[in-house]
Amino acid sequence: METKRIAVIAGDGIGPEVVTEGIKVMNRAAQIDGTIQFEYTYFPWGCEYYTKHGKMLPDEGLEQLQVFDAIYLGAVGFPGVPDYISLRELLLVIRKKFDQYVNIRPVKLLKGIESPLRHGTEQTIDMLVIRENSEGEYAGVGEWLEKGTPQEKVLQTGVFTRKGVERIIRYAFEEARRQGGKSVTSISKANALNYSMVFWDEVFEEVSQEYPDISTHSYLVDAAAMFMVMDPGRFEIVVTSNLFGDILTDLGAAIAGGMGIAAGANVNPERLYPSMFEPIHGSAPDIAGQGIANPLAAIWSVSQMFDFFERPEMGAHILTTIEKLLAEKTTLTPDFGGHATTEAVGMRLVELL
Ligand code: NAD
Ligand code: IPM
Ligand code: MN
Repeated sequence: METKRIAVIAGDGIGPEVVTEGIKVMNRAAQIDGTIQFEYTYFPWGCEYYTKHGKMLPDEGLEQLQVFDAIYLGAVGFPGVPDYISLRELLLVIRKKFDQYVNIRPVKLLKGIESPLRHGTEQTIDMLVIRENSEGEYAGVGEWLEKGTPQEKVLQTGVFTRKGVERIIRYAFEEARRQGGKSVTSISKANALNYSMVFWDEVFEEVSQEYPDISTHSYLVDAAAMFMVMDPGRFEIVVTSNLFGDILTDLGAAIAGGMGIAAGANVNPERLYPSMFEPIHGSAPDIAGQGIANPLAAIWSVSQMFDFFERPEMGAHILTTIEKLLAEKTTLTPDFGGHATTEAVGMRLVELL
C-alpha cells in the first residue's frame, strides 16, 4: 500500500464546497484501487485568512507544502481582497515556486454533455492544452511610473526564457508521442508581439525539428480562438503561453460544457516539488454558499491526480463514471440544467464508482 500525502487548500467561495466532494471521490477511488491511500492535511489559507492575518498564507507556508506528494486546491479570490493580491500571493506563487511549469488542461466533450456548438461532438472537441505556467505574461515584472500624475505610465513585461519556452514546447511534443503521434499546434502572436512571440515561434520551429514524426500547426491566437469555435476538430495537442492558455481554456471550457466541468493539473514533471490539481474555475462568489456549485471540475482534477500517481486505469474510470452520471441526467447541478446539490452529485458519483 502506497500512502500519498495531500495538502488541501480548499480556499474561497465554492472552493471548499467542491473540494469536499472531490475528496469523497478520491477516498472511494483509492479504496477500489486497493494499492494507494491518501492522508490529508488541511490548510485554511485564502481570503478569510487574509482578513485576519493580513496575508494569504503564513510566512513559512510554502515550506510546509514542500513535503507533500500533491496539493489539491479549490479556488482562490473573494470580493474584499484585491484579486492581484489574493491570486498572486497564494495561487500563482505556488505554481512558480514549485516550478509547476506545465498546466495540463483537457478540453474534451464528455459523453452526455451537449456542446453549445452545433457541430461539437466527442470527436471534434478533444484536445489537450499544454499551457506554460511559470513565466511569460504572468512574470509579475513591471513598473508603475509617475503614479497619480498626468504622465502616469505602467509597464507590464512578459518574461520568456530560452529554458522556459523550450521545455514547455518539448513537453507538448513528448505528450504527442505518448499519445501515439498526435499533432502539435502552437498558439502565439508574433505579428504584434515582436520580441516574445517571435522568439516563441522560433523555438517552436527549432524544437519541432527534433520530432519529424509529429505534424505541426502554428496559429495566431486570434485566429485560434476563431477556429476553436468554428472547427475545434483541428486541434489535438495545443501548446501556448501563460496568458493565452488562460483565456483559451475558458473558451475551451465553454465549448465543452462550461466552467463546472473544466479541470487542470499544474505539474512539475521532474517531481522535484509537489504538483497541484484544481478545477480551472474560480471561487464563483455569485453562487457561493448555496450548495449548488458543480463539483465535476474538481472531480475531474482528481482523475488527473490518479494519472499523476501512475494509476491511469483509475483516472480513466473516474472519467467514465462522470460520463455515466451525465448520461443518467438525474443528478445534475443547475449549471447543467438540473436541480441537484453539490453534495448530491458527489454522493452519486461515489455510488456509481
Ligand atoms: P469564476 O470561474 O469564479 O466564475 C465565472 C462564472 O462561472 C460564474 O457565473 C460562476 O457562477 C460560474 N461557475 C464557476 N464555477 C462553477 C461551478 N463549479 N459550478 C457552477 N458554476 C460555476 O470566475 P470569476 O467570477 O471571473 O472569478 C471569481 C473569483 O475567482 C475572482 O476572485 C477570480 O480572480 C478568482 N479566480 C480564481 C481561480 C482559481 O483559484 N484557480 C480561477 C479563476 C478565477
Ligand atoms: C486560472 C485562473 C488564474 C490564472 C488566475 C485566478 C490568476 O484564471 O487558473 O485559470 O489566470 O491562471
Ligand atoms: Mn483562468
